[in-house]
Amino acid sequence: MGIIYNQKKRLLNLKTASSSYQIRITEDGYAQHLYYGQNVNGNDMSYLVREYDRGFSGNPYAHGKQRTLSLDTMWQEYSAVGSGDFRIHSLQMVNADGSRSADLRYTGHEIVRGKYSLPGLPSVYANEDEADTLILTLLDEQSGLSVRLYYGVLERYDVITRAVELVNTGAAEITLEKAASACLDLPYGRWDLIHFHGRHCMERMPERLPLSNAIQCVSSERGMSSHQHNPFLILCDEEANEDHGACIGAMLMYSGGFRAELEREQFGSTRLVMGLSNAGFSWSLAPGEGFFTPELILTYSDGLARMSQNFHWLIRDHVCRGIYQHAHRPVLLNSWEAMYFDISEEKLVSMASQAAELGVELFVMDDGWFGARNDDNAGLGDWFVNREKLPLGLGHLIERINALGLDFGIWVEPEMVNEDSALYRAHPDWALQIPGRPPTLGRNQLVLDLSREDVRAYLYECMSALLRENNIRYMKWDMNRCLADLFSAALPAGRQGETAHRCVLGVYALLERLTTEFPQVLFEGCAGGGGRFDAGLLYYTPQIWCSDDTDAIERLAIQDGTSYGYPVSAMGSHVSASPNHQTGRSTPLHTRAVVAMSGAFGYELDLEKLSEAEKEEIREQIERFRKDEALIHRGLYYRLSKAAEQPLFQAWEFVSPDGAKALMNVVVKAPQANAPLIHLHLKGLDAGAIYWIEETWEKISGAALMYGGYALPQLTGDYPALQLHLRREDA
Ligand code: DGJ
Repeated sequence: MGIIYNQKKRLLNLKTASSSYQIRITEDGYAQHLYYGQNVNGNDMSYLVREYDRGFSGNPYAHGKQRTLSLDTMWQEYSAVGSGDFRIHSLQMVNADGSRSADLRYTGHEIVRGKYSLPGLPSVYANEDEADTLILTLLDEQSGLSVRLYYGVLERYDVITRAVELVNTGAAEITLEKAASACLDLPYGRWDLIHFHGRHCMERMPERLPLSNAIQCVSSERGMSSHQHNPFLILCDEEANEDHGACIGAMLMYSGGFRAELEREQFGSTRLVMGLSNAGFSWSLAPGEGFFTPELILTYSDGLARMSQNFHWLIRDHVCRGIYQHAHRPVLLNSWEAMYFDISEEKLVSMASQAAELGVELFVMDDGWFGARNDDNAGLGDWFVNREKLPLGLGHLIERINALGLDFGIWVEPEMVNEDSALYRAHPDWALQIPGRPPTLGRNQLVLDLSREDVRAYLYECMSALLRENNIRYMKWDMNRCLADLFSAALPAGRQGETAHRCVLGVYALLERLTTEFPQVLFEGCAGGGGRFDAGLLYYTPQIWCSDDTDAIERLAIQDGTSYGYPVSAMGSHVSASPNHQTGRSTPLHTRAVVAMSGAFGYELDLEKLSEAEKEEIREQIERFRKDEALIHRGLYYRLSKAAEQPLFQAWEFVSPDGAKALMNVVVKAPQANAPLIHLHLKGLDAGAIYWIEETWEKISGAALMYGGYALPQLTGDYPALQLHLRREDA
């Protein structure tokens, strides 16, 4: 059991393989946080609390005459506005009398086997014997707001999840203005923040900053998790590196706007509050009603590599679902960068027949096949086939593709509508827009109001008809703009603050229905590339198109940044044309494949433009990937190049969980004349074993490869790449 309650001390101990998390219920009934860090074997950590008299100056101590007790200094599990705790708070509510205040006191707790789930929201799932749940209930007696703090403990994965259920048990309406998923107070330490920012075509760039005494905030107010900021961050000891040092990863399992706030407070503790964005948010709770927050996933580890691996394991085993969770992912060819909107049955079939000869398994028809979709100005919402481009219909096209031995996949963007579409002409009120104001366009499109049941029903009919009537094995679910004009024609004025979150819930409801009804379909998430790359979406789509930037050299940085939180099996990654369509850069075909193979692998280029030699190379690449797929998609991932080395080269490695096999990858980004020798220190090998290197026929011990490193041969030319396959001698 990963949760133990010490009744005498009123101490709750949550333990995973390498971490401990401790909560104490104080005499006054506050849920006081004591510790989250390296495993302390159940030691009572309340000795960390030293009750200094701080009642003489700026800290309220409004609890009797006890000058040492101030909510402003206490480490708490959930903090409310208006309570005398002036740090960033987790909960802001408006009471019936208009006051914004709550005093949250313990009323009880339950410890149960298994992992809780969240109605209507994605959450980590586990069998009864893989997880335990703690539900800690706090109550604001005056309003009747009950705050149920959920903790899921997955011992083997070193993961603790958190979520909150807020229930109005009072007699009057309560309005939530902020309801974070968790508050985490770290009593001590000098922490760095690593967060992942970016833009379209350059998502999830890590930035490491020391936590300062100014409040820091990472957020998206775009109604989507966004290209600009990912709902994932790391707090690590200022000395921490890939191999050692305290690291806490915090990942919100949510695809809408989010907010993570960090505060180093006056006495040196650090608070993290993370949850859905409260910008413009409000949610009315009538008596008896409840609200669930999204889930926050926490992991503690020694070193960044291990922290990433914890997330990779968890996402692969307890977030992604369906038959493709662990199964072979078909190597695909996508039509987008080869044809854009200019598609026809003949062109598609001709490309598919070449793809089949190379070993491709799935042919994906991207944008342009429906409605009046000749460019991105029209057609979204009209999910019926464009008969000018495909006169014999979808079924006929798919039969021809299937006859080539290929599965068929299709692109859709259900959440959007173009003003120039039959759907919009029929239902203008189905789009989010503010009455009387000109709509804000993004890629010439509007966002459908998925908070509405009728909109979801229409989309369900369109998507399910496509999947029911056609032999479609893959669906790319795109979403090419963020949410603005947050107004739902279906909600009253007082509830408009609910629109953004209700839209996200609507997307989840639709995806849940479709993925359950069509388990044979591999869904790939996408949002103008990687604008919605988060654990929430991965619950429905086991892979997500990582970025619209397919340039192999730029992708090195994007995939490296993404790897901090997400497994490579989740990163859609394709070999595209050279020169690249986004950057104009030319790279060798080999390098492009080395980069794309470290992902959910595919191709996206015009095969007709390739030479016979290049086609032969692609054939070999696909064969190679099939052999390496298990190692790449289920192995332990290590980032090998240090920050200072990255402008010159990038290196990464996969090691099978038993240490018997490894794959080292390196791409030189800036070849130098008379270059210094590069020694790559491999990781995760069996130090006592001998490894055979397939490409060079060398035999070197694991210890030598890790501590002495591997001396790379001279790699010259434009962006050369090298892959080395290592096999333990006894394997
Ligand atoms: C954005 C996606 O990221 C691209 O891969 C492509 O599907 C286009 N949309 C199509 O409009």
